[in-house]
Amino acid sequence: MAEGPGRICPVAYRYGARALAAPATLQTETLWVAGGLYGNCEALERLLELYEDEPGAKAIVFNGDFHWFDIAREDFLCVDGAVLAHRATRGNVETELAIPGSGAGCGCGYPEWVADAEVDRSNRIIERLRATAQGAPEALRRLAGLPMFLLAEVGGERVAVVHGDADSLAGWSFSQERLATAQGLVAARAAFRTAGVRIFASSHTCLPVLQVIDAEFAIVNNGAAGMPNFSGTRCGVATRISVRPRPGALYGARLGPLHAEARPIPYDHARWHARFVASWPEGSDAHASYFSRIMNGPHYKLASALRASPSAAARQAA
Ligand SMILES: [Fe+2]
Repeated sequence: MAEGPGRICPVAYRYGARALAAPATLQTETLWVAGGLYGNCEALERLLELYEDEPGAKAIVFNGDFHWFDIAREDFLCVDGAVLAHRATRGNVETELAIPGSGAGCGCGYPEWVADAEVDRSNRIIERLRATAQGAPEALRRLAGLPMFLLAEVGGERVAVVHGDADSLAGWSFSQERLATAQGLVAARAAFRTAGVRIFASSHTCLPVLQVIDAEFAIVNNGAAGMPNFSGTRCGVATRISVRPRPGALYGARLGPLHAEARPIPYDHARWHARFVASWPEGSDAHASYFSRIMNGPHYKLASALRASPSAAARQAA
């Protein structure tokens, strides 16, 4: 695999699945998990409206990469204030802002299928965002103190909230690409055994997937709360895990007593578009990497995201 800034996964990002066998620090009936807000203030506003509408005992966790496009100081402070009013864990973006690792670049740990030009642009985006963040030292201090993962109990069932995967802050083992392979599913099963959880809720890889394992366990990767996730769409996605189902999910699965759902976050696209191009006009790095996705969604179909439990034959073949 290629090495260099944006490709490597710093040692400090590694916690290992055994660390996730820790006791839960949060008990609730409904847990929302929103990774990859990417500085989209409009998506943040809409997400919190939808969350506030949720009945019963509830909590929301922003599991990293809530900053990214928000290089305007007022946008950065808006995201910082709203997110840190709730529970949050660090993503690679927040880590590289608050505790930068030498040579890590954006800290994305990009795999081989991401092109070099895109990795280079990400490394320049984090430099630009760092300039904004350095004007908010109190925010940086709070970001540095955030954990890398969180263990919750939802309806008495253990849920691990991570940014990347079971081993690392920027791991790609819970990406839709890796979970489409037999080796990826073998590794996922091992992670469930080690951590002793019913559900892993992740983000980081930018594309959503709900991978059911052996009909009882699941990895729920929300993709991005602040960017379109499917071809031809303009809404973010957040994960909802609850003892109760709720109408309106994009897709979902039942895991024991829990319902895991992908919830659409239909933010105000026109306002977000105006805000994005004000910070990242044509010719800028973020415009080159993300404008097409913001307008048209990625090349990924909604029907690809929900993955059934692999068959016994497939398990034996693995
Ligand atoms: Fe990330």
